[in-house]
Amino acid sequence: MAFPETRLRRLRATPALRGLVRETRLSASQFVYPMFVEHGLEGDPAHPTGRAPIASMPGVDRLSVDQAVAEAGEVAALGLPGVLLFGLPAEKDADGSGAWDADGIVQRATRAIKAAHPDLLVITDVCLCEYTDHGHCGHLRMGSHPPTVDNDASVALIARTAVSHARAGADLVAPSDMMDGRVGAIRAALDEDGRSDTPIMAYSAKFSSAFYGPFRDAADSAPAFGDRRGYQMDPANGDEAVRETLLDVQEGADIVMVKPALAYLDVIRRVKDATAMPVAAYNVSGEYAMVKAAAAAGHLDERATVLETLTAIRRAGADIVITYHAKDAARWLQN
Ligand code: PBG
Repeated sequence: MAFPETRLRRLRATPALRGLVRETRLSASQFVYPMFVEHGLEGDPAHPTGRAPIASMPGVDRLSVDQAVAEAGEVAALGLPGVLLFGLPAEKDADGSGAWDADGIVQRATRAIKAAHPDLLVITDVCLCEYTDHGHCGHLRMGSHPPTVDNDASVALIARTAVSHARAGADLVAPSDMMDGRVGAIRAALDEDGRSDTPIMAYSAKFSSAFYGPFRDAADSAPAFGDRRGYQMDPANGDEAVRETLLDVQEGADIVMVKPALAYLDVIRRVKDATAMPVAAYNVSGEYAMVKAAAAAGHLDERATVLETLTAIRRAGADIVITYHAKDAARWLQN
């Protein structure tokens, strides 16, 4: 039957009717809040509050461990299930040894947050780029010009980092380096360490994206030379994103991720259909910064824009959305 018997506007007439047939719903339980924890911010006279604002990401600060604990409390009180931790270490070196230091910044923050808020999930980003002095996500093979990131040597360091996070109390580990074989290596290393119950949330289809710009300011992790196109994915490739994800599933990923989110909604849908896995999407720093800048200029309604965006990411197939707007969205959904 077509018009005039069929009239789609019938079910759009009132809020109650629209609610009855709404296909996609948002709840705070679907959002994860990323946080940046910085070594040495406590007791830093330049930052008496233990917080350092990030210019390109209004509302997001780098945090001391104490402030991270306080912020985690706020996150838990809003009904959000968890936080995703990034660390800014005391010192960087060629191999990023701060990443697997038992007393490193993420390990310390994880222990402190879990002690104060045991039910809140602490997910740790597992990568070397915040810890290497060259800003790349792995160990450099120096022979070639420019140097390249040595896959297998990096995988060993990444697995070591994941184990140290789990030992500190991380509930899930989230490798974001895009080395081949790292999910399998992490699974084996965790199992060997008696941690067969620690799940892996794999950044499976992580694209080499301009939308990470603000994050690299926040985490001080821009590559010193070259770019990440030798390991992160080409934004042009959807079939390859499915292959990357299926390999991570084979290697033991428990949750797969597509990143960024907004320019990759088709990839989210394809990954969901191809894997039937729990899918996370990372609504990244540049996506946050765009909305913030447009809202500050009076060009967009921030609340409406963010809720529409989050709905679209969920409609595309994401079960979990990692977003710097998580706390705002949780508040907006309350009233
Ligand atoms: C680390 C990592 C990055 C992001 C998450 N983990 C940066 C990058 O790969 O350059 C980006 C997150 C964001 O932009 O919000 N490898």
